Amino acid sequence: ADPDSLQDFCVADLKSSSSGNGFPCKSSSEVTSDDFFFDGLVKEGNTTNAFGASVTPGNVLGFPGVHTLGISMNRVDLAPGGLNPPHVHPRSTESGIVIEGKVLVGFVTTGNVYYSRVLSGGEMFVVPKGLVHFQMNVGEGKALIFTAFNSELPGVVVLPLTLFGSKPSVPADVLTKAFQVDEDVVNGIKSKFGF
Ligand code: GLV
Ligand code: MN
Repeated sequence: ADPDSLQDFCVADLKSSSSGNGFPCKSSSEVTSDDFFFDGLVKEGNTTNAFGASVTPGNVLGFPGVHTLGISMNRVDLAPGGLNPPHVHPRSTESGIVIEGKVLVGFVTTGNVYYSRVLSGGEMFVVPKGLVHFQMNVGEGKALIFTAFNSELPGVVVLPLTLFGSKPSVPADVLTKAFQVDEDVVNGIKSKFGF
């Protein structure tokens, strides 16, 4: 989904301010092997949170070597019952592979058709660009997933946080109308996200 590169690589110089659509390249005399390897996905994420989930990104902001290569990866850890909540990536298709555990993976199309399957170790999934999707651990133990993107910075819009945890908040009457519920329901959800 990202533009094609015009050179072998362009390790992002994250210290320079982005010129608008991406980063300038590190000067080639400063590029080393370290720029093309990344150990940020080695460690299990902390799933002690409301969702029982942790997404560790391996995008250009942490792994500058992927800049201009049009790819990146995430690590997703799920506690038993944990949910990577419904979200979309505005700039990328996603593929993924379950490494460990039993995971319900689902997405919904623009026509509101729901597709899903329960996957276990070694099984893959895809999520078309921009569609709402989630992963839920439906097994007894932990679950581990690695996901891959055709963008160095896929972006993520997490629906519950976007709608009920924004700053400033989305007006309550927008949410009560949108979801056809009373204001106390909206306030109850907002309070779960720190409002
Ligand atoms: C999973 O959906 C992820 O975005 O890593
Ligand atoms: Mn995703």
